[in-house]
Amino acid sequence: MKNFKRTLITSALPYANGPVHIGHLAGVYVPADIYARYLRLKGEEVAFIGGSDEHGVPITLKAKKEGITPQDVVDKYHGMIKASFEKFGISFDIYSRTSSKIHHETASEIFKTLYDKGAFIEQTSDQFFDQEANQFLADRYITGTCPRCNFEKAYGDQCESCGSTLNATDLIDPKSVLSGNKPVMKETKHWFLPLDQYEPWLREWILECHKEWKPNVYGQCKSWIDGGLNPRAVTRDLDWGIPVPVPGSEGKVLYVWFDAPIGYISATKEWSSGWEKWWKDPETKMVHFIGKDNIVFHCIIFPVVLKAEGSFILPENVPANEFLNLEGDKISTSRNWAVWLHEYLEDFPGKEDVLKYTLTANAPETKDNDFTWKDFQTRNNSELVAIFGNFVNRALVLTDKYYNGEVPTPGELTEYDKNTLSEIATLKTLVEKSIETYHFREALKNAMDMARLGNKYLADMEPWKVVKTDPERVKTIMNTALQITANLTIVFEPFLPFTTEKLRGFMNLDKFGWQELGRTDLVTAGHKINTPELLFEKIEDEAIQAQVDKLLATKKTNELEQAKVNPAKNNIEYEDFAKLDIRIGTIIAAEKVSKTRKLLKLTIDTGIDKRTVVSGIAEYFEPDKIIGQQVSILINLAPKILKGIESQGMILMAENPDGSLVFVTPPLKTKEGSEVR
Ligand code: MF3
Ligand code: ZN
Repeated sequence: MKNFKRTLITSALPYANGPVHIGHLAGVYVPADIYARYLRLKGEEVAFIGGSDEHGVPITLKAKKEGITPQDVVDKYHGMIKASFEKFGISFDIYSRTSSKIHHETASEIFKTLYDKGAFIEQTSDQFFDQEANQFLADRYITGTCPRCNFEKAYGDQCESCGSTLNATDLIDPKSVLSGNKPVMKETKHWFLPLDQYEPWLREWILECHKEWKPNVYGQCKSWIDGGLNPRAVTRDLDWGIPVPVPGSEGKVLYVWFDAPIGYISATKEWSSGWEKWWKDPETKMVHFIGKDNIVFHCIIFPVVLKAEGSFILPENVPANEFLNLEGDKISTSRNWAVWLHEYLEDFPGKEDVLKYTLTANAPETKDNDFTWKDFQTRNNSELVAIFGNFVNRALVLTDKYYNGEVPTPGELTEYDKNTLSEIATLKTLVEKSIETYHFREALKNAMDMARLGNKYLADMEPWKVVKTDPERVKTIMNTALQITANLTIVFEPFLPFTTEKLRGFMNLDKFGWQELGRTDLVTAGHKINTPELLFEKIEDEAIQAQVDKLLATKKTNELEQAKVNPAKNNIEYEDFAKLDIRIGTIIAAEKVSKTRKLLKLTIDTGIDKRTVVSGIAEYFEPDKIIGQQVSILINLAPKILKGIESQGMILMAENPDGSLVFVTPPLKTKEGSEVR
């Protein structure tokens, strides 16, 4: 392993279009904070960088929806996010933002450098344009019908119903979000980063030299590289962002994913005039903390930018996490399905560390995990209170009671005492190893084992019994227990900083460095501790129920929202209706269309002929259960190729509010070919 002089820790810049939630915390900020605090405690030189990501289309859409400017949107959320991080105790050295002047300058400069070096290719292509709004349309500004599953409100970049990644030009019947009109195609020029040219280098740098990266990260990189890299546009037609700093680029800005990671550099500049050693000295170890949806940007695109620029270091590791779900469902800002940090801080004042503990103990390090309020309560009551809190409380209360708060002078240690104390150093090594390999869950478990050790020690020694028979021996026991307690103020410092501060207060101790961890003489005989208080308090069922109720209310609101019956469409003439040729038919064959989740290939006896229809109903019907099913079929719909199959018509389905589908079928067997009108 390479020896580094200092560590630059970056944490993904959250979009300033909503508050921070537990998914962000578990995936990025809590592990980054543990890492930063640990290294600082070891006396290492650390820069921990954060900030808000304030560009991009979703912010402009939000502004539009609320009738305010994008700057208003980001001002509001940046303020909120920054304040909640501070209160929660994420120990950034700087928390900056990408709408700042220094960031605009830095990102422009880097773009300009790459441009001057000829690192970009210029390409003209046809893009959707809204003539009424007189602007090009970003993918998110276009909605239409998904070609894969027929969902009618798919976005130009993605269908949220079937999850497919789309190109805006794939959409059937595209509409501009701005005017509702059908957009036209118009030529536009953009600058592309030719990722394909960097493939051999990326292969070497990641696949050969960074085999130690987490399997989820390495695997994603490998599949991107093996899948073939394409030039990627780094500019957009948009009026919110950093103007493209080259001639002939009016109305264009840098793509948000081009400028955002540069935010790490600008924030470092803003923080320190000596920023260059952090970004240009090969003895700086850079680590990016991110969620899994950010992997390609931090492992492929940003490194290519840094490499092309030529003077910057590259990340040494990118310990990306998977996702945290909430009570079994995907966290979603738009559906308000989240535990918001600012609300947590209000509902559970003084319990910042309980959330940190739960999110670390259950961190989605190798797979998606679920946060439940029940688990949160159990972690608090059965672990923090019953183990850590209980041990500390016994140690302090007994010291107070037997010795008036004065640390007693120990007698000779028994083998058991010695073994117990030597276990501290063993656990220290485990914690170090775990943190240094980004296994924070395991590290926390190792730390917790130290509290368990203490708890078991007192339970086995039973000083409250021995005190009646051998008071001298109790002095040794209590001294040993207090040494363990003092060590807990160190080992938990990276994970539970508010708790260790409190505990140091109880024990009347100053902060120790990490190197002191393992010492068995941290508190000296005669040292006076303060009157003990509780380190953690039990969380009652009512507090948990209140949170569960809040989520149930959200669920209810979302269901009602969904269940809203669509409003009636505009009137039409009978002639319009009469154009539809709807018949009764019978399904005579059905099979799944391979590699799709939703599509069935049906053969329908229409009375006129037997024809093929591709239908997006596979989620609700098994092919062999619907043979013989009578259906209504629109037979004069222009044929269309779906997944290579020509679909000749459309089966009519009724859709329930939950999205489930039912056939529109005559209640009695009806002759095939009968007209519906
Ligand atoms: N805003 C992005 C997200 O939330 C993360 C940006 S990370 C950065 O997914 F490096 F680009 F800043
Ligand atoms: Zn779809």
